[in-house]
This record gives sequence, structure tokens and C-alpha cells, in this order.
Amino acid sequence: MKMFGNLFRRNASQKLSALLLIFGFIWGLVLLHFTFQQPKHQNSAELREQILELSKRYVRALAEENQNAIDGPHGASMAGYADLKRTIAVLLDDILQRLGKLENKVDDMIASRLTNNTNSTNSNSMSAGASKQMNNQEFSDLCALTSLDGFPYCEGKIKWLKDMWKSESCYANYGVNGSTCSFIKYLSEVESFCPLLPERIKMIAAAISLKPKAKILTSLDGLLAVLAEHEELVWIKLRIERMKEKWITAVKALAKKHNLENRPQKKILLHLGLLTVESGFKIAENVFKGGPLGELVQWSDLITSVYLLGHNIILSTSVDELKRYLSIVTGNKDGCPIRGDKLLDLIYIDIVGLKQLKSVLGSSFTHYSCLLRVLDSFGTEPEFNHAEYSKLKNHGSPWGKLNLIPKQFCNMFPHTPDNSFLGFVVEEYFNENHAALLNNISRTNKALVYGKLADYWKDKIPFLDIVGKYAEIHGTFHEKHNVPLPNYIINHGILSSHNLQLLLREIKVFVGLGFPYEGPAPLEAIANGCIFLNLRFQPPKSRKNTLFFQGKPTFRELSSQHPYAEMYIGKPHVWTVNIENSSEVEEALRQMMKQEVKPHLPYEFTCEGMLERLNVFIEKQDFCLQREIWPPINALIVKMAKPSQSCVEVCQKEQLICEPAFFYHLNKVTELKRYEIKCKTSKKEHDIYLPAFNPQNQMCLLQSDYLLFSCAGSHELYNRICPCRDYVKGQVAFCQACVEGKEHN
Ligand SMILES: *[C@@H]1O[C@H](CO)[C@@H](O)[C@H](O)[C@H]1NC(C)=O
Ligand SMILES: *[C@@H]1O[C@H](CO)[C@@H](O)[C@H](O)[C@H]1NC(C)=O
Ligand SMILES: *[C@@H]1O[C@H](CO)[C@@H](O)[C@H](O)[C@H]1NC(C)=O
Ligand SMILES: *[C@@H]1O[C@H](CO)[C@@H](O)[C@H](O)[C@H]1NC(C)=O
Ligand SMILES: *[C@@H]1O[C@H](CO)[C@@H](O)[C@H](O)[C@H]1NC(C)=O
Repeated sequence: MKMFGNLFRRNASQKLSALLLIFGFIWGLVLLHFTFQQPKHQNSAELREQILELSKRYVRALAEENQNAIDGPHGASMAGYADLKRTIAVLLDDILQRLGKLENKVDDMIASRLTNNTNSTNSNSMSAGASKQMNNQEFSDLCALTSLDGFPYCEGKIKWLKDMWKSESCYANYGVNGSTCSFIKYLSEVESFCPLLPERIKMIAAAISLKPKAKILTSLDGLLAVLAEHEELVWIKLRIERMKEKWITAVKALAKKHNLENRPQKKILLHLGLLTVESGFKIAENVFKGGPLGELVQWSDLITSVYLLGHNIILSTSVDELKRYLSIVTGNKDGCPIRGDKLLDLIYIDIVGLKQLKSVLGSSFTHYSCLLRVLDSFGTEPEFNHAEYSKLKNHGSPWGKLNLIPKQFCNMFPHTPDNSFLGFVVEEYFNENHAALLNNISRTNKALVYGKLADYWKDKIPFLDIVGKYAEIHGTFHEKHNVPLPNYIINHGILSSHNLQLLLREIKVFVGLGFPYEGPAPLEAIANGCIFLNLRFQPPKSRKNTLFFQGKPTFRELSSQHPYAEMYIGKPHVWTVNIENSSEVEEALRQMMKQEVKPHLPYEFTCEGMLERLNVFIEKQDFCLQREIWPPINALIVKMAKPSQSCVEVCQKEQLICEPAFFYHLNKVTELKRYEIKCKTSKKEHDIYLPAFNPQNQMCLLQSDYLLFSCAGSHELYNRICPCRDYVKGQVAFCQACVEGKEHN
């Protein structure tokens, strides 16, 4: 996450940007060229092939060009770049983004062609969501269904199949025979666009109950053996080995706490796109040099959890492996879906891997999309996820535009309630066995400054001068730097994790400098009994005012360096101060020095907490058949926001959290009435601030495009109608009714 950003995006120098601009221009010309030259009859598959070939050529050309620039006669002008690898990584990253855009264009062409043929059946188009309701006459044709509520694309798809079912033999193979019932059966069971027929719900439930059961494991040896076969997974393997005992203890404790019997075993593919050679990132080679990457930490903990929970896992770290596992699909170029319970139940993937999956699956991709869980450290807000909306609003972001259900994005922290909080585990080195060692260490008035690069310290000297009045200042930054720092700072250099944690046991205050944002280090410090001095951001930082967030698919605002620590941990472990106000800083320091604070790690960042959360996600989150709402609907608490206020804010103000899973339920006039929201009139529109209430004319505005349901949206005149829920302290992904009355912390 952050580190990932550091390595590959943030430090792109201006010269490099200029270089990219020039290449971008050439690129544009090539694009124009071939757009105009394409003969009309060319089909999109060929076009896509061509684009990919072109892109590959360009990646090579760019990489060579850059190499020459560094090694060749122009070497001097490139001085100042960290190293070749990083430069190329930045270039490749940029190219990947361009490729994404190109692919979107092709997708759009395909979509518009379909639309032309059949009057809007394309699932990606906003107008499809807004299609008119079926009238009663038509309902009688809907087999045994009484309503299509919750399946906005169902109607259009039925119409489309009516015209098109003969176009591909595979539809007939799935039992499609021209009758509406056969369309609905197919669209509900194979493609998930329609509700299941009542008779089929029982049959499918019965089929699922016959599946093999997942049994929790109490040994990691099998997993470690698999990891040992993959050189690129060695970092992950070492982390798991170190934490082995903690994991085993945790899974045993979880099994005592919850009933883990009778869970269907799932077949889960985990594709680590960032570790593939094709990504060009060379992470596997560099991981031991630059310190752990947030992404790898999260992957380690995810793999371990899924394994211990007894599911059937398939690991993939190359495009070839991905192809092999999905081989049943290749050779199937007609867009016929091949999906079923036999093949796969879930796919965990990262953004890089997603691009690879898309190109491996081609047009079959849409049939797999509901299985996806995308590791996305910063979060993706619905307005960036919705391809058409994002384009409409001109959101210049290379990420997003994936048209997934926003909850399919999995974050490192509970960043945005529109996504899922997958999280990771904060590694604890010490346990009861270390009591003697730890008792020997005494905590004194020492401050450890958070920041491995002396660069972060540059403008913060006056602040450090204040801290220095109350505590001895220590640092763990690279020895080699050319930032003049006061000589009262005691630098330990870069420490191993173990030694860092030992040092943290001597430290009173862990001092943030405002960057990096939202890292794991403050949690580690708090887990070792330090108090975290967190810097408040006034105004909050976001893509509106901070370079780092530009291009990230979110408008989320950071109120401090570590909003999670500020919001969910707080005093006495976390003090959030405004660095501009020296008396506030001094007062906080004075208070902190007086306090005895015990080590604290929120349950959700322990092995057990991660296992608990993942177990429920795997069992309950279903974006394919959507047979039940999770969290349970009885957790719904409806709040009305003030104009300009988002649902994130209004729920948070009430110590609640916005729950997008309930939006759909709430999006009806009859339902609103139950919450005392009386609509004189109502209409359906599509935008990110719906459902909402217009106080001027008492009109209820309902959402017509379900992919645009967003906790983050707001409108300057309307009151948003917000689905909130309570949460378990220490497991915010859960509502209190989601777990059987268990205490955390
Ligand atoms: C869609 O149909 C219109 C009118 O028949 C035609 O002018 C247009 O080129 C078509 N678009 C595509 C992408 O086929
Ligand atoms: C497409 O839509 C137009 C106007 O809504 C309608 O007149 C026409 O019959 C539709 N065509 C098909 C193939 O459904
Ligand atoms: C077509 O399929 C439906 C649903 O699968 C089935 O009920 C019906 O009998 C089939 N009709 C024919 C003519 O095979
Ligand atoms: C604790 O400190 C004492 C004195 O410095 C030392 O002799 C002893 O070995 C230490 N114990 C541990 C467990 O480190
Ligand atoms: C600075 O902090 C102090 C103590 O918290 C507070 O009373 C004062 O109003 C603050 N000053 C400004 C300018 O915010």
C-alpha cells in the first residue's frame, strides 16, 4: 500500500513525467492512426489483439529507450533517478494504466454494438439500470417470479436472450430453449443477473449442503510446503513461519468461540498479480531490501487464514498458472460463460492481477466478476468504480472503472464503508515466554520518531524541538541522507522488526510526522505500549489538495496521519494534535508523560480477529446469487443526513457505520414511510447521492442504478437517506447482531 506507492508512484520525478508526456503524445498519435485506419468490418477480438500487441511493443520500446537514456550519452540528464529498476517500474505502471484505458475503449465499443442491436442490454450501461419497470401483463410471463427487485439488469437480459439465444450454441447447452423460464433459469443460475426461481432456491441450497465441509486445520505444514516450492513466495513463507504458533493458537481459540462445523468448503483461487514477472514490479527480488510491503503482509495473512479455515486453495503467481487454472475457459472465445460451482467459488486478486485475469478470460470475464475479491489498499469509491459515471465526471484515475460491487474491494483498514475491511495482522514478537526479558526493559521518557527517511523530518524540526523538551528523541532512519538534523537525535539506523519492537518497549511516545499515511507502524507501537502522537490535518488531506492522493480512486479525506488510530483507538493510546498549535502539542506531551499505558492491539488486527472476520466474509458475502443480505437487515438503523453531509459522516456522528448492503432495501417509498420519511412524490434517478429527500418539495429521489449506491456521496440541497448499523468495537466489519454476543478486546 503506502510502501507500494512509495516505490512505484509517488517519487516519479518531474523529468520523468515530461518524458512520459512525450511518449503519451506519440502513443496518442498511434492510437489515432489506427482508429482511423481500421476497416469497418474488423471485429473487436481482433482489435483487442492488435491493441495488446501494440502495447507490448510500446512497453519494450519505452523500456529500451529509458535504458539508453540512463546508460547512454544522455545519462547526465537522468541523474537523480533512484535507479533503473524503479524508473522502469514507474514506466510500466504508467503503461499498464494506458492499457487499462485502451481496454475500456474496446469494451465500450463492444457494449455500444450490443446496445445498437438490442436496445440496451449491456450490464455496464447506466441506462440499463434505469429501464422502466415491467408491467403486470409482462409479469405473468416471468415464469414463477413476482418481482425483479434487486436485479436491475434482469429484464434487459431476458429481452436480449429472446433475440440472441440462438446466436451461440452454448446457451442451448445450458438448457435455454426459447421459453422465458429457460432464460430466467439460465440468467439466475449461470449468469446471476436474475433472481433464482423459487423452486430452484431449495434445490441449490440442497446442492450446497451436499458439498464437502471445511474443517479447520491446526497445522501450517502443508501450506509451508507449497510455499517452499515458489521462490517468489519466500518472504510470505518466512512471515508465516515466524507467526506459526500465534496462528495455530488463534484458530483453536476461534473454534472454541464459534461453531465452525458445517461450513461448505470453498474452492478459492488466490492470484498475486504483484508478484508475477509480467507485472514488471520485481517485488520478489527487492522485498528484502526495501522492507516489507503492505500488500505482501496482507497477502500472507489472507493466505494463512483461508488455509487454516479449511478451504481448498489454489495459489497463482504467474499468468501461466492463471491460464492453466482457467484453462477450461480458453478456447471459448464466443463469450459463453463457463462458470459453475464445480470450478471456483472465490477469486482473491489484486489490481495488477485483475488486468491479467481480464486478458486471460477475455469476454468471459463478466461471468467471473461476481467471484472476485480485490485487494485494494486505499479503497475505491463507487463513483470511481462505476465506469460510465467516472468518465462522465472526468475523474482522471487509472484505477477504478471496474463496475464491480463496491464491497468486492478489500481494504487494509476500515477506510471506506463502501468497501470491505479485509485488514491484516499486526505481528507481535513477544508473548508470556518473554516476560523476563520485557520486565528487564524499563520505559522512560523517550520519543521515537516515525519515519524511515530523513526527508520526512525536514520541515518538522521546530515541532521536534518542542517534543525534545519532554523526551529524548530517537530515530530509525537510513544513515545515509543529506538532510541536516539536530544533533540531539539519537539514530539507531534501520532496525530488524525484532529489535524495533524491543526498542518500542523503552519508548513512551511514538511521534508521527504526518507521513507515511495510514501505515501499520503506529499499531505496532501501540501494541508495544507506546502512546502515538498523531498529527491532525487541517484541512483534511484528499485528492483535492494532496499530490499523493491524486489518481487514487477515492475522495476520502484524511483528518490525520492515521484516521483509524484517531477514530477507533483514541486516548489514552492515541493523541491527535494540531502541529501548528504549539501550546496544544505541549499540553498533550505533558499529559502523555504522566501516563502509564498498557500495550493494546485491537482484536481485528490479531490472528484470531482476522480469522474470525474472513470466515464470516467467505461464508456470508455473496455477490453472485445474493441469496441473503449480510449483515442481517435487523441491524439497519436509518438516519437522514443534512444537505452536503454524506452517509459516512452522518453514521459516524452517531457512533455508527454506513452499511451499503442495506441501500437496496431502503430504496423504496414504502420502506421510507416506515422510517417516517413521507414522500409527496418520488422519482428514480441515478447518481451517487441517492436515495435522498428533497426538502423543498418533499420529493423522494430513489436510486435507479444500484452500482451507484454510495456511502460517500452527498448533495448540497438534498438530505441523503442513510443506512447505518452499529459495529463491534475491535471488529468494525461486524454489526453487534452479526456475532453471537461475543466480547472483543
Ligand atoms: C448504431 O446504429 C446507428 C444507426 O443505425 C449507426 O449509425 C451507428 O454507426 C451504430 N453504431 C455502432 C457502434 O455500430
Ligand atoms: C428500440 O427502441 C425503440 C424506441 O424505444 C423502439 O421503437 C424499437 O422497437 C426498439 N427495438 C428493439 C429491437 O427492441
Ligand atoms: C424449455 O425449458 C423450460 C425450463 O427449463 C422447460 O420447463 C420447458 O419444458 C422447456 N420447453 C421445451 C419445449 O423443451
Ligand atoms: C536482566 O538484566 C540483568 C542485569 O542487567 C541481566 O543480568 C539479566 O541477564 C537480564 N535478563 C534478561 C532475561 O535479559
Ligand atoms: C491551541 O490549543 C489550545 C489548547 O488546546 C487552545 O486553547 C487554543 O484555542 C488553540 N489555538 C488555536 C489558534 O487554535
